[in-house]
Amino acid sequence: MTDPLLALRPWEAPEVASWGRLAAHAVDRRAGALSLDGDWRFRLLPVPDAPVGGAWSSAYVPGAWTMQSAGAGDLPQYTNVRMPFPDVPPGSPAANPTGVYERELDIPADWSGRRIVLQVGAAESVLLVHVDGRPVGISKDSHLAAEFDLTNVVRAGERSVLRLTVVKWSDASHIEDQDHWWHAGITRSVLLYATDPLHLADVTVRAGYDGGLRVDCRVRDARGALPSGWYVSADLAGQLLSQDAEFDRLNAEDERVSDFLGEARIQATVPEVRTWNAETPELYDLTVRLHHPDGTAADTSRHRIGFRDVEIAGRDLLVNGERVFIRGVNRHDFHPLTGRTVTSDDMRADLVLLKRFGFNAIRTSHYPCDPALYDLADELGFYVVDEADIESHDHAHEIADDPRYLNAFVDRVSRMVLRDKNHPSVIVWSLGNESDYGANHDAAAGWVRRHDPTRPIQYEGAAKLDWAATDDASDIACPMYAPIEDCVAHALSGRQTRPLIQCEYSHAMGNSNGTLADHWAAIESTPGLQGGFIWEFWDHGILQRVSDGRPAGRAGAGLYDNGVTAPGHRWAYGGDFGETIHDGAFVADGVVFPDRTPKPALYEHREIAAPVRIECYRHEGIVLGNHQHFRGLDWLSGTWELSLADGRTLTAPAELPHLRPGETAAVPLPFAVPCDGGETWLTLRVTTAEDLPWAPRGTEVCVPQVRLRGPSVSWNVPVEGAVRVDDEGLLLHPLLTAGPTLSLWRAPTDNDELGGTAPRWRTWGLDALVRKAVSVRRDDGRVTVDAEYAGTVGVVRHRQVLTPVEGGILIAEEAELPEEFDDVARVGSVFETVGGLDLLEWFGRGPWESYPDRSAGAPVGHHALPVDELFTPYLRPQESGGRHGVRRFTLSAPDATGLEVELDEPRQISVTRFRAEDLTAATHHDQLAPRPGCVVHVDAAHRGLGTASCGPDTSASYLVSPGVHRWSWTLRVH
Ligand code: GAL
Ligand code: MG
Repeated sequence: MTDPLLALRPWEAPEVASWGRLAAHAVDRRAGALSLDGDWRFRLLPVPDAPVGGAWSSAYVPGAWTMQSAGAGDLPQYTNVRMPFPDVPPGSPAANPTGVYERELDIPADWSGRRIVLQVGAAESVLLVHVDGRPVGISKDSHLAAEFDLTNVVRAGERSVLRLTVVKWSDASHIEDQDHWWHAGITRSVLLYATDPLHLADVTVRAGYDGGLRVDCRVRDARGALPSGWYVSADLAGQLLSQDAEFDRLNAEDERVSDFLGEARIQATVPEVRTWNAETPELYDLTVRLHHPDGTAADTSRHRIGFRDVEIAGRDLLVNGERVFIRGVNRHDFHPLTGRTVTSDDMRADLVLLKRFGFNAIRTSHYPCDPALYDLADELGFYVVDEADIESHDHAHEIADDPRYLNAFVDRVSRMVLRDKNHPSVIVWSLGNESDYGANHDAAAGWVRRHDPTRPIQYEGAAKLDWAATDDASDIACPMYAPIEDCVAHALSGRQTRPLIQCEYSHAMGNSNGTLADHWAAIESTPGLQGGFIWEFWDHGILQRVSDGRPAGRAGAGLYDNGVTAPGHRWAYGGDFGETIHDGAFVADGVVFPDRTPKPALYEHREIAAPVRIECYRHEGIVLGNHQHFRGLDWLSGTWELSLADGRTLTAPAELPHLRPGETAAVPLPFAVPCDGGETWLTLRVTTAEDLPWAPRGTEVCVPQVRLRGPSVSWNVPVEGAVRVDDEGLLLHPLLTAGPTLSLWRAPTDNDELGGTAPRWRTWGLDALVRKAVSVRRDDGRVTVDAEYAGTVGVVRHRQVLTPVEGGILIAEEAELPEEFDDVARVGSVFETVGGLDLLEWFGRGPWESYPDRSAGAPVGHHALPVDELFTPYLRPQESGGRHGVRRFTLSAPDATGLEVELDEPRQISVTRFRAEDLTAATHHDQLAPRPGCVVHVDAAHRGLGTASCGPDTSASYLVSPGVHRWSWTLRVH
């Protein structure tokens, strides 16, 4: 007999969002639940209705089979917009991998008479449930749990066989076309729990800033009619609260009340409530109990609640009445070993890291996360934009108004709201991502507005048509990648009707996030602008064994560190699993590496988000300001640091003043500033003063600084002697293996490549300039070398004057770029050193990587790092390792001998083991062989990074212009 679930062919029926599935409700972890996680019997079928014959293999639950050996023939595939198959909605391909998972269910004997519920945390993309061969239910939505009532299909004390069939491709794939890897499997935990037949079907908590608390309970009895006399009670932090008599009376008069649906309310006001916000996330334990008529507890539901308000007033989004800045990031549930499956510890590590780098908000791009994320956001303090699992990117226009998908839209949005409504962290509901805008969105928005009037809704696809509209499905204008100028212009236009908070901005692909500080300067100074969410948290590189091209899977634990993989492994991106349709490294666009190592851009963000800042330096002292919204500075402590160009660093403890949010105060300078030290910078190193849930005491929070004294003029004294150059005019020097030549090329960043700049550079021939010495003139000891560097369309004239000076050689350079070269990567010198000079010490911005448009977070000071640690291993090799604003550096061997370079003014430098052409040629790091010596760049000018892989390029002020560039530097041996 054909199985009725298969006969329905639910994978090609968008109208069928579920069958036999229980209504969604707030998450509450019930005591006594049985975990069904572990190894299950598994078979991978080529099509959903293939016979399930032959031998079983085994698969681990929760997990994607695409990441496990059981899924041998079906590997991860990455596409951004386009669907991985040609079938149009609601169709799916004939070849449709289907996983059959089976295991025994031993129902505890003491569950007799109880209501038994199966919960499947997430299955991708269609789930069919059978028990002992009997059809139980169907569910779609790969990122929400599905529950099924098994009371009548299993028996207490007996064994049954549970089969979960997961169909990979379906009508639902067309609305799960998010920009990340395609996987399949049961990706979140499976469990079984039992309740009394009389149970709490749902609990809705509303807790306000004023201490007002309302708990609405929905009560059901699985046997049918409710027994008369049931009641609810609650315990809030040890305080007993009872059912609201007024509500009962009103309800009793209400003709809608039936004998099978019970509604009860508990109301209270908490005096002197400690309110919740992302800075001080105060939570209260709430336990709700449903009682049998005799008073015994039938059901218990536990929550951690927070008292807070969220509202939109005019063009401001207010939390507890405050216009808070949204320092957000977009986050996927991602893991380099499992693909999608994340543990609570994984998520805690994500959120802890985000807290340490100044983030206060998360958009759950682009689907509801694992439920534990919201508990953590409540606890650690994040504002969450909770996004429904809807993205129809490739066929957005066709689907937004397709009535066959109407149910799916409302289903996905409403089930998310029902699940997550009690979290104080959730402040906004999002209807999904990149799905055009149609009636299906309005239907979903209508459901939310009635069900949860306490939170705003956002949807980029609606608001983008007109940021100033007032009649679409979005309460917030939430564009993606809008140029700073457009945002400012809108805020100043007088037309703004609603908050402007970018749902995505500052695309973090590769070496990126240029102009982040410019964004925030605009946001903080323009009423109407409130922040945004960086795209994105993760670089989705999957740990891959190079030998057989398979995901390393869970066996890969420990085979990576600090962003770098163990030999024989690499971070795979699109195309690395043999896919023919893929979008390459576009999946690697996060602020952390696949192992959560922070990229340097995070330090930029940390500084921009600094809670305490140096406003200015006046003669009477340093003015400090509190830039938080809700708390003082007492959780912080500080140390003053004075960095002098002559090499000295002085420190002194800092006394942080008592400042309320928004206040400033002058504090006395802790040092008498030495007059003889040259350029002088004052830094306030701010750390946590006590252990916090996200940072031990002493964790650095920010390093604001101010320049107290400008540079003093230094003189190079010409001396007798001769500079040695070869016939081509290249400097001969005992510590250099290649004398300095002109460099206009950098290994294109993802922004350079995808933004179209690098392709232009190639058409000019900048990747292979041909150097021709024109003349080498000697005049006393000094040598003047004129050379030409020919591209395919223009010639750069370059002059180097090498003069012997006290202790070394002064190299004065001049390059004249033709008008055609109107936007190049860099103009500067490149040279290579002998091996063994493995330590870089410098006075300039650091210690982490910085670039002209991403340097606000790298304080000027004396820094030192081994050369091997200077380089940032972005997944696709590209320009990296730069240091901005460098005045002087030394490269030393362990015996402290080496070379020293002094620059005429603060400049961009880099010291790595790779030539720009090495990096340009490689697609992955396992193809790169570090050179024994150093490749050193000293740039007169270096182009900003921008974010043009998706969004605006850098601003004009960070471009390298044509015309004459001059720079000079002194090379000494020490
Ligand atoms: C956005 C999209 C994201 C991601 C990003 C580019 O348009 O919403 O999902 O694709 O661009 O990385
Ligand atoms: Mg998309």
